Amino acid sequence: MRVLAIETSCDETSIAVVSNTGDRFCVETNILSSQAELHAQYGGVVPEVAAREHASYIMPMLTQAGVPHTGEGIDGIVVTAGPGLVPALRIGVELAKTLAWMWKKPLVAVNHLEGHIYSTWIKTDTIPTLPAICLLVSGGHTELIQMRDHGQYELLGMTRDDAAGEAFDKVAKLLGMSYPGGPNITKAAKEADPEAIAFPRPMIDSRDLDFSFSGLKTAVRVYLEKYPDVQREEVAASFQQAVVEVLVTKTMKAVMETEPASVILSGGVSANPELRAQLAHAVSAYNPSMKVHAPDLSLTGDNAAMIAVAGLKKLERGETVDPLTLEADPNMRLASYD
Ligand code: KG4
Ligand code: ZN
Repeated sequence: MRVLAIETSCDETSIAVVSNTGDRFCVETNILSSQAELHAQYGGVVPEVAAREHASYIMPMLTQAGVPHTGEGIDGIVVTAGPGLVPALRIGVELAKTLAWMWKKPLVAVNHLEGHIYSTWIKTDTIPTLPAICLLVSGGHTELIQMRDHGQYELLGMTRDDAAGEAFDKVAKLLGMSYPGGPNITKAAKEADPEAIAFPRPMIDSRDLDFSFSGLKTAVRVYLEKYPDVQREEVAASFQQAVVEVLVTKTMKAVMETEPASVILSGGVSANPELRAQLAHAVSAYNPSMKVHAPDLSLTGDNAAMIAVAGLKKLERGETVDPLTLEADPNMRLASYD
C-alpha cells in the first residue's frame, strides 16, 4: 500500500509518501519545513503564527511531493489529528479531508504520539519486537506506554507537570540559549562535568511511573540566582544528567514490572545522546538480549513519514474515519491507564 501523510501539529510542516510491504516501509518522500527559527524570537511556539506558516507551505509542498492531481497511485490519506495546537492541526486535517473526499480515498486519523513510536520502524534493519515499553519524550509529552501489539496501548505513567522537552526548553531560556533548548543544552553539556551540581531527581524513588520536571526547572532558576557567575556548561550538564537519570530509572522500573520484548525510545528528546547511551546501557545490563530502538537522528523530530507508517498500520486494520466529520483534537489520547 502507498499513502500520502500530512503533519502540522506543532511547528513543522511535513508531507510524506510512504509505501509498505508488511512491516518494511519505503519512504519515497518526506518533505519538511521547520518554523523553529521563526518561533525562537517569541521563546516558544505561537499557535496562530504556526498555522499561518503551515497554510503558506502546505500546498507548495504537496506539489513538491509529486503527487498527481488525481491522487492516482495513492491508497489512502493519513493525517495527524492530535494532540497538538488546534489552529496548526486544522490546516493539515482540513487538507486531508478535502483530498480524501475529492479522490474518494480512505482517510486515516493518526495520533501524533503513535507516529513518534513508529519512527523506529523506519530506516532500520531491526524493527521493534512486541510487546514493548515505549518512553515517549517530546516538547509536549513525557509518557511511559506499554505497546502490547500494533494499535494496543496502555499508559503506565506520565508527567504531572512539564514535559521533558519543555524542561530542556525552559532551562535553556534561563541559561540565555535560544529555542528549541534541547540541542543547545546538549552542545553546552558536552565537555562539562555532569556531577558538578547536585540538582534534584524529582520522583525518582516514587512507586508509580509518573514524572515531574517543574521542580527541577525551579531548582536551576534558584541556583542561577544564588550563583550568577556559575559556568553555564556545568549547569547544562548537571541538569541534563538529572533529567536523564529520572527517565532511565523510571523506564527500567517499567521494564522490570512488565518484562517486554524490547524498549522503544522516541520523540524529540530521543535525539539526546546521553539519554540514548544511558538507557541502552541500563537495558543491556538488565538483559543483554533486550534491544533499545531509537529513531534515526533524521526522524527524532516531527515528520510526516512516521505519521504515514502509523497510518499504514491502521489502514491495514481498516481503521478509517469519515472525511465529512473528522475534527482536530488537541487533547487526543493514545492510551489511558488500564
Ligand atoms: O517531538 P518534538 O520534535 O515536538 C513535539 O512533538 O513536541 O520535540 C521537540 C522537543 C523540544 O522540546 C526540544 O528541545 C527537544 O525535543 N529536543 C531535545 C533534543 N533535541 C530536541 N531535548 C533534549 N536533548 C536534545 N538533544
Ligand atoms: Zn512530536
